[in-house]
Amino acid sequence: MKGVILAGGFGTRLHPVTKVINKHLLPVFSKPVIYHGIEKLVEAGIDKIMIITNPQFIEGFVNLLGSGQDFISQKTGKQIQIVYGIQNEPSGIAQGLWIAKDYVGNDNCVLYLGDNIFEDDISEYVKQFKEGAVVFLKKVKDPKRFGVAIIDCNNKVIEIEEKPQNPKSNFAVTGLYIYDNTVFDKMIGQPKSERGEYEITYINNLYIKERKLKAVKLQKEWFDIGTFESLLAASKFYETKSKTSGQEIKN
Ligand code: DAU
Repeated sequence: MKGVILAGGFGTRLHPVTKVINKHLLPVFSKPVIYHGIEKLVEAGIDKIMIITNPQFIEGFVNLLGSGQDFISQKTGKQIQIVYGIQNEPSGIAQGLWIAKDYVGNDNCVLYLGDNIFEDDISEYVKQFKEGAVVFLKKVKDPKRFGVAIIDCNNKVIEIEEKPQNPKSNFAVTGLYIYDNTVFDKMIGQPKSERGEYEITYINNLYIKERKLKAVKLQKEWFDIGTFESLLAASKFYETKSKTSGQEIKN
């Protein structure tokens, strides 16, 4: 299983802070945002990760992360391997993943949107994954900001709508996806959405049509740090967590 972390885009909702600093390099309490994604994948046993960003910001990532020397593989006890991909223009999440096609090769992959932070452990889903796709849902108060899952009476996801005006549920599709290798075939001939992007929601809907999309409801905290409010909320959460775990050590 390969990991692909998308860390491109221009983070316009966080301007002017993100005019010269990529949003994934901003701190969430004591660590850059991107550390949370890498650690989540490493916890799940993934030790080969491609980070994809835009040309303007690649240097910051390479200076911070190098070849992955700060992260230790669960399997080998040695450092993980981080490599980099360039997305010239932020033309959509599916297009960002396409850049990792040759890197993923014949493998399966976890796609991680770098501005998301998860508290749930996804190790078991990664270990047990065989085919199709897995998405992770979280109940939210403001579903209009996200991809929203339409769920039938049997608790099955029957469609995902990207940022709907009138959301049909409160379940957001979070920025973490497990895909089999057919994900790249599904991108061939994909049209752009009305907002001009190659949407990952389009790809997920193709998996639904094939009855190969599994949806898991997350139990713990989830942050999408795309706004100042959520960035601050995440920092506060990890500050509290660090104090609590500090007390546990002292006791
Ligand atoms: O956070 C979860 C949401 O992420 C999902 O519910 C939506 O279905 C999904 O479309 C996405 O929506 P956002 O509006 O939050 O996407 P955003 O443009 O903020 O990009 C998400 C991450 O992907 C962010 O870390 C930047 C990166 N990205 C995005 C695009 C469009 C790229 O690296 N390249 C891109 O072209």
